[in-house]
Amino acid sequence: MLILGIESSCDETGVALYDTVSGLLGHSVHSQIALHAEYGGVVPELASRDHVRRLLPMIKALLLEHGRTVRDIEGIAYTEGPGLAGALLVGASVGAALGYALTVPVVGIHHLEAHLLSPLLARPAPDFPFVALLVSGGHTQLMAVEGPGRYQLLGETRDDAAGEAFDKTAKLLGLPYPGGPALAHLAGSGDPGRFRLPRPMLDQDNLDFSFSGLKTAVATLTEQLGADSVEVSMRDKADIAAGFQEAIVDVLVARCARAISQTAMSQLVVAGGVGANRRLRERIDAAGKKAGFRVFYPPVELCTDNGAMIAFAGAMRISQGARGALPFNVRPRWELGSLSAIGR
Ligand code: KG4
Ligand code: ZN
Repeated sequence: MLILGIESSCDETGVALYDTVSGLLGHSVHSQIALHAEYGGVVPELASRDHVRRLLPMIKALLLEHGRTVRDIEGIAYTEGPGLAGALLVGASVGAALGYALTVPVVGIHHLEAHLLSPLLARPAPDFPFVALLVSGGHTQLMAVEGPGRYQLLGETRDDAAGEAFDKTAKLLGLPYPGGPALAHLAGSGDPGRFRLPRPMLDQDNLDFSFSGLKTAVATLTEQLGADSVEVSMRDKADIAAGFQEAIVDVLVARCARAISQTAMSQLVVAGGVGANRRLRERIDAAGKKAGFRVFYPPVELCTDNGAMIAFAGAMRISQGARGALPFNVRPRWELGSLSAIGR
């Protein structure tokens, strides 16, 4: 079965073709970074309008590139939530309309389920069950993944998501939007030991996170440094970035190790945009070696938002008989734990 995947939950338009026999045929992503940069964050209305402009031409180009026509599509998966309502509606309407016209099954996919299952697109892939760390701009959660569609929340952030903390801290340091990758890059040339930043909630007996205090600590630090000189130097900024990254990575790694030992599982999956962070990968891999658990990541280009993960999750659900119903819906807020199991 050839499945078309459509992602439009935030500021990336993603489309993909996934074949249930031969795997991922191809995908393409258009990032709206340049569109939102001057506002320092995603402007929802601009995001929706850009999805409207991009989506159909991207689907056409992808089909053409892989020698297929719209008639070859046998199923459609779009991101139903969580995300920005207007942005989600663009992907949902295109998916539902195309499905209706072609009389093929259409399913709405949970964006985080797609991130969780995306390491199954890599080789080697994990087996079920596994612990998953979802670290993106909107979410920081630890889940026990018993099987496809069977997710149990182990812990989550009480305030900012890890990616959000990266982005807000980067803004404090005057780095260009979106800050996460820029901050990580700057941290590479800094001394992580010069500024000791807090490791929030690490001493607590649970699997939750809190990152807003860390951002406040950086704000206080930059104010103190800036009080003596007109501007905080690049050296200082690099050291702050390195100290910040080390603190956040320390917390994430310790929480993952704890989740693994608490669930007695032996595999950890790291998914979501922050999963692209090199330092995080180094440290989690080292923790896994030490404690005897295996770590899996999605292919690097599928860490951030994309249509391939939506097509893949859609293929799993459609193969098991899932069918969306008209009228279609989007869910800007949607609990991952409320999904139905896929298969048995
Ligand atoms: O999963 P994603 O593409 O979008 C959602 O939030 O759903 O994740 C984007 C987040 C942003 O906050 C971005 O700054 C962060 O992932 N990010 C990184 C890195 N690459 C992306 N954070 C730290 N280090 C990176 N290398
Ligand atoms: Zn995402």
